[in-house]
Amino acid sequence: SSTTRLHTTSKKINHKIDTDATKVVHQQSMELGEKNGYCRCWKSDTFPYCNGAHMVHNKETGDNVGPLIVMTEKL
Ligand code: FES
Repeated sequence: SSTTRLHTTSKKINHKIDTDATKVVHQQSMELGEKNGYCRCWKSDTFPYCNGAHMVHNKETGDNVGPLIVMTEKL
């Protein structure tokens, strides 16, 4: 029903990235010493990388989200 659809839509967190896909998944390998910031706000224009769009989102909504920063290092 339209009520169910509205309810479902209101709970979505992704309104931007590959919205036609059933599920958005990225896979990546990294070089030693590489460092990447991955978006967790679903608003980056360079998704899956953070581009700072979370700062606008946080300011507009009072949210506190930010990236996952991943780096590789020799053990
Ligand atoms: Fe989404 Fe930074 S742009 S976490």
